[in-house]
Amino acid sequence: MKFNYVNSISPDGKAEAYIYFLYRDEKRISEELKYIEKDLKIKFDSQTLKDFKGKDSQTYLVYQNGKRVFLSGVGKKEKFTLEKLRNSCARAVKYAESLKLKKIAIEIFNTDGKGFSYGDIVNAEVESAILGTYSFKKYKKTKSKDEEDESRINEVVLFGKAGNEKDIKKVINDSVIIANGTITARDIGNEPGNYMYPDSLAKLVVSEGKKHKYDVKVLNEKEIAKLGMGGVIGVGKGSENPPRFIIMKYNGGGNKNPIVFVGKGVTFDTGGISLKPGAGMENMKMDMCGAAAVVGIFNAVASMKLKVNIIGIIPSVENMPSHNAFKPGDILTAYNGMTIEVQNTDAEGRLILADGVAYADNFKPKYIIDMATLTGAALIALGHTASIAITNDNELYNKVRKAGDEVFERVWELPSWDEYDKLIDSDVADVCNIGKGRAAGSITAGMFIKRFVADNKWLHLDIAGTAMLPAAASEYVPKYSSGVGVRLFTKFLINEANNN
Ligand code: BES
Ligand code: MN
Ligand code: ZN
Repeated sequence: MKFNYVNSISPDGKAEAYIYFLYRDEKRISEELKYIEKDLKIKFDSQTLKDFKGKDSQTYLVYQNGKRVFLSGVGKKEKFTLEKLRNSCARAVKYAESLKLKKIAIEIFNTDGKGFSYGDIVNAEVESAILGTYSFKKYKKTKSKDEEDESRINEVVLFGKAGNEKDIKKVINDSVIIANGTITARDIGNEPGNYMYPDSLAKLVVSEGKKHKYDVKVLNEKEIAKLGMGGVIGVGKGSENPPRFIIMKYNGGGNKNPIVFVGKGVTFDTGGISLKPGAGMENMKMDMCGAAAVVGIFNAVASMKLKVNIIGIIPSVENMPSHNAFKPGDILTAYNGMTIEVQNTDAEGRLILADGVAYADNFKPKYIIDMATLTGAALIALGHTASIAITNDNELYNKVRKAGDEVFERVWELPSWDEYDKLIDSDVADVCNIGKGRAAGSITAGMFIKRFVADNKWLHLDIAGTAMLPAAASEYVPKYSSGVGVRLFTKFLINEANNN
């Protein structure tokens, strides 16, 4: 999808369809329809106004004088948010794509004094257009009879008096980059386990690093063992596919202390010897969505040449039961020398993250941020609507939460009080990998990671509920791998770059 900008309230006349956004307000709608009539040299049927009310659920296609016009509602002006625009835009663009159109024009919505910059509006429209039309069809090779050829929109003209061409083009460029980062994360998450295993993930990250210009170093099993990463080695032992430890580096911010992102890269989670039930286990191919988000963030940040320093760490394993597998009762020694009693091999994510966040300390990080599809309990606590944050730094949390609100990848904190920390004490080792029973499952998982972050400022994001979706979350966030974390932390890093 290629984007162009026309600095004019009238669209380029060669598009196959024109998308307009309208508030839920009859007087305004009738005025706007008159403008559109003049601009496109068409005449709307009076019936149009009777049916189209500008509701945020309404997207109408109107044919007039050989032209296609999409009227897409954004709801009442008082209640307008960028998220309403993202959904309205994604719905209209998907509709246009379903008609096999190639070139469309989209109005840069004038919010009429709602306080959003044209940059915000263009960003929302571009990202939602790209993300809304995403699908993962890589392994669909033969078509059924009634399945039609796939058709993609290849050109979008954004039109409106939105100001300086250079500024708007920069917003378009960055928005495309961020959306593509999200798509990369979705693609990685959606890959099946027989194609995506630790080594193939590592190779993919190496090639993404070459493409987007950041450094990638991959440690193999021997090197991981030599460093004393007992968590990664322990979890990885049961699989024919040996673990990898991936280290990424992007330096755009001089000699500032880096922000380190650690992503859970369990390419498939059977639960190991503490085997998971069969139903739904196929979803555990997405247990590397934390890692996927780290890759998406790096692609976006490096392509935008943001003035920040970031390190990415991806411990990657396949959690399998076998005669070699680690067992309940085993005691592992993590990278920082701490011993871990394994009471459940299905609580594997935290074991590899323990090594990951402990290793992060070597970089003298400004912040450590880890992302993981860590607990089923995250779905119980917040459902699919928000990611769970556990942190030891309130300022960091506020920054992440703000970025989350801005891009609508929302984050909510759960407490990390000492009472929860006690639940992971072990009788035989320094720490136990599960809490007591099912109580506060997402918190005890976070508390476990906290034990390995030394005195660094740290935030853990449990994305089990938001990264792998049983149904579409919105018009532009589809079923399965959502790519959550990329837009969130790219925004967070943009804010960091602007404030330093
Ligand atoms: N990858 C899972 C968490 C998960 C479950 C993500 C469902 C998405 C949907 C993780 O490794 C896991 O198995 N966690 C266990 C922890 C338990 C054994 C303490 C869980 O949540 O059941
Ligand atoms: Mn597990
Ligand atoms: Zn897992």
